[in-house]
Parts: sequence; structure tokens; C-alpha cells
Amino acid sequence: MIEMIKKNIKTKIKSIHGIEDLIVEEPKRGVADLAIPLFSLAKLWKMNPKMVFDKIQEDVYVEHVSHVEFTNGFLNIYLERKNLSKTILKNIFEKQEHYGDQILEKKETVVMDYSSPNIAKSFGVGHLRSTMIGNSINLIHKKLGYDTVAVNHLGDWGTQFGKMIVAYQKWGNKAELEKNPIAEMQKLYVKFHDEEKNDDTLEQQARDVFKALEEGDETYTKLWQWFKEESLKEFMDMYELLNVSFDSFAGESFYNDKMQDAVKELESKDLLKIDDGATIVDLGEDMPPALVKRTDGATLYITRDLAAILYRHRHYGANKLLYVVGNEQQLHFRQLKKLTDLMGYDFDIEHINFGLVLIDGKKMSTRGGKFKRLEEVIKQAIELAKEAIMSKNPNLKNQDEVAKNVAIGAIIYNDLKNERHLDVDFNLENMLKFEGQTGPYLQYSSVRIESILKGYDIEIEKLDASVYEQVHYFEIIKQLAQFPNVLHRARDTYAPSVISKYIMSLAQSFNSFYGKERIAVEDQSVLQANLVFARSIQIVLNEGLRLLGIKALKEM
Ligand code: ARG
Repeated sequence: MIEMIKKNIKTKIKSIHGIEDLIVEEPKRGVADLAIPLFSLAKLWKMNPKMVFDKIQEDVYVEHVSHVEFTNGFLNIYLERKNLSKTILKNIFEKQEHYGDQILEKKETVVMDYSSPNIAKSFGVGHLRSTMIGNSINLIHKKLGYDTVAVNHLGDWGTQFGKMIVAYQKWGNKAELEKNPIAEMQKLYVKFHDEEKNDDTLEQQARDVFKALEEGDETYTKLWQWFKEESLKEFMDMYELLNVSFDSFAGESFYNDKMQDAVKELESKDLLKIDDGATIVDLGEDMPPALVKRTDGATLYITRDLAAILYRHRHYGANKLLYVVGNEQQLHFRQLKKLTDLMGYDFDIEHINFGLVLIDGKKMSTRGGKFKRLEEVIKQAIELAKEAIMSKNPNLKNQDEVAKNVAIGAIIYNDLKNERHLDVDFNLENMLKFEGQTGPYLQYSSVRIESILKGYDIEIEKLDASVYEQVHYFEIIKQLAQFPNVLHRARDTYAPSVISKYIMSLAQSFNSFYGKERIAVEDQSVLQANLVFARSIQIVLNEGLRLLGIKALKEM
């Protein structure tokens, strides 16, 4: 709504004064509602700012503008609060959780590649970050009208499976592996590398086994399949906990029969080169060549990713391909982009990277065995959340369900609250606090509104919007009006943090409002206006939480 007003002002000024790129800002609280800086126009027209003000002030009156003022080189615009507020809140009420939804005129398909853990290895903290960030970006795109395909590009192919199979056949044990699949597989993997120091034929054995696997060897395929199933069980538990789902689990192995075509296409486009027996594509001066096939003909990670891109383009009709993957793979995605450019495609390939997870300032890693398994960490968070809830609200029903949602919400919010390229400090105690910049604080704010509104019927038709003229109402209503714009910013920069910061500020605004003002007043018409106001805040807050992957609660 406010965006619309800005646009109308710009259009009007453009048609009257021919100014193309007029700036209409939303100044920080307390000043005007909108402001036009006059300096550049002053320069252009060789006038002083006051003269510019006099020249254009009449022309900024579009619908909802109440009056204007000249202050310090700015044309300050004040909006007419009552009707504007009514329009904004009615719109939120009508749309409910669909407030901010966008319908795209031209459908666009986006393939979102996130989480993508490696089979036979534990689900790392990097995968956790990728899962949460990717899930949120996926939800944001869906809300904004895109057709999205959420793909879990499982790392289920590659020479490491040669190693796994060799190790299992030499030192493995079926019962042990079934009891504790990933831990056992990791042990075998470590054992392989230890033994390698004494036995220099092991590496070659593993290569041969993987080669045979690529060619469809039955015994190896069965073993590989089993490793995969056992690993997936653990990953699925994780997704269930996090409430994240995917449209496809086509991992690297899925492209086994599609790589040949990709390589052929490279060949027909005259891009292949043989270098020391290996097949490569030169990518120019500023990056190393792409290694497409090894000397023994085995394919590589990048070959599978290339086949995946072509598949995603042809099968889903996607030109926009998003990858939520850690920083260390930056070169890989630059190479992929360059590779497809050279092939004559114009794909929008975005590598959405992110920082590390730190515990006490040190890199958290579930790999080296320094920290507990991630699932145990999450279970511990649920225990802590449960203790907190039981002490706050001992009679609460579904305590377990609530504790799970509070703990998961805390972990997600802790991750998504800052820009994703920054490192995340992982401290369970801090993230589970009910005050401060935390998930529980946001969930609690929503629950608080729920309990304030309990037992009332809200009648939006008869809404008397007079109270909204007061600035402490109107500031929050303007904030609600920004939500659609917030969504666009989050999409443009692939940044869930834009939403997390916005809902934090909204919740804080409401809580400080509620510290001063009563909602449940005697006067029926003020009461109704208050109820509409509070519910609208809750609708936006809950929808923001949903877009981050956090469950809003009714009680906690
Ligand atoms: N499995 C990889 C890893 O854990 C991430 C895969 C990312 N997606 C992709 N299409 N390359 O490092």
C-alpha cells in the first residue's frame, strides 16, 4: 500500500516535471511518513531546495496524502492515517495468511538444491544450515508465485563408495552396520584411510570397485543401495524433526545414465580436451579447467552436476537454478556457470553460500567426533525447551509437541536471524531464551496475542478506524504494510534474514505497544479496532515465522 503511494507520487511528478528517478524515502520513525530529498533536483534546476519545494509541493498530492512540509532540504509527506489504516488492515484480514502472496503473470520455475547430504556420512552442521536456509528460500519463492522444485541432491555417488565397499568387504559387519548405520560406515571410512598408509594398493582397489559400480556390477550395486537406504533413514528422521520436505531425492547417482549425453554435448560443441589422459574443459584464464572424466573414464562431481543442470532445465523447464551450499564450493559453482555459458546456455545459476557454525568461537563439526551427533544436539535442545516450558506453564497440554516446536524454532531462528554469509554462534542456552532475539520470543509474542484475543468475535465490517490516527498505532500499521516489500527484498537477495529481522521488529513493536496500551477496553468500537489491529499483527507474524520454517503456536 505504501509502495503504491510512493509509486503514484513518482508517476505524478514524472508526468508533470519529467523527473524519471525521483527518490521517495520512508524516513525512520518519528519524522514524516515519506520524504523526498530535494538536493539533487535543486542542483538540476539550479534552484535552492525551498524553491524546489514550492515548485513541486502541489504535485505530490495523490490518494492518502494528507499534508506536506519543508524541513532541512526535504519535502516531508504526511499520510492521512484513518482511511489508509483501514485499507491496510482490511486487506490483511481478507487475505489472512495469503497476505503478501503474489501471482506471477508468467510462471517461472526455480529449482532449489539444498540440504544434499552425503550418504554414509553424518549429516553435518553445514547440511543443517543448508536445509534451513534452503527451506526458507523455497517457501519465500512459493509465496511469491514461483513454481519451485525442491531437490535433495544426495551425495550418493563417487569414488568414496568404492572405498566404502572395499572397507566393508574387508572389515565390515552386517549386524553392526544395521544397528548404527552412519556411525559404522564412518568408522569403515576412517579405517580405510588408516589402512591406506600401510597398503598402497587400497586406493586402486577402491577405484576399480567404483568403476565396476558405475558399470552396473550387481554385488556392488546391492551393497551401495543398502548403504544408501540405511543412511536415508537417519536423514529422514532429521527432516521430520525439522519439518522440511523435498519434491525430489534425485541424488548424484540419478545422473549415472545421463552423464554420457552431457559429455557428448560438450564434445559436439567442441569443448573437450584431453589432458594427460583426463578429459577436461578449459574455462579460461580466471579459473582452473573442469575435470569431466578421469584417466580411467570415471566421472566426477562436476560431471554429475552438469548432467543435473541439463536435466533440470529440460525436465522441469527451469532456467533459474539455486544451490544452497557452503562457501568451500564457490569455485565449483563458478565453474558450472562458466561451463554452461560456454555451451551456449544462459542459465541463472546462483550459489547461495553461508558461514560456519561456531561453538564457543570454534568451528562446530560433527565429523571429527569432537561434538555429539547433530541429532543428539537437537534432542538436547528439546529437553531444555521442555524444562523451560514446564516451569513457565506446568499445566500445558501437548508439552512434548510444544517443546519440539520451540526447540526447532529456536535453532532455526538462531540460524536465520543474521545474514547468511556470517558465522552462526551455536549456544543452546542463548537461543532458547524467551527474551531477546530468539525464536521462543517470537512464538511467545504470537501466543500472547492469541490469549489477548481469546473469547472475542472480531467484526471487521463495522470497523471504526479513528484510534489508528494515533501515532503508536499508525507506526505499526505502516510496518504491516511493508510486509510484501520485505518478501521481495528477501527473494532478491536470497536472504531469510530480511524476514527474520522484520518479524523481530514487528514483535518488539507490538510488545512495547502492549506495555502501554490496553487492548481489551470497555468502549466497544475501540475494542473492535484494537482486536483487528492485534490480529493483523499476529497474522503477519505467524506468516513470517512460517516462511522461516518455524511453527507458530497457540499456547506455550
Ligand atoms: N553433497 C554435497 C556436499 O555435501 C553438496 C551438494 C550440493 N549440490 C550440488 N548440486 N552440488 O558437499
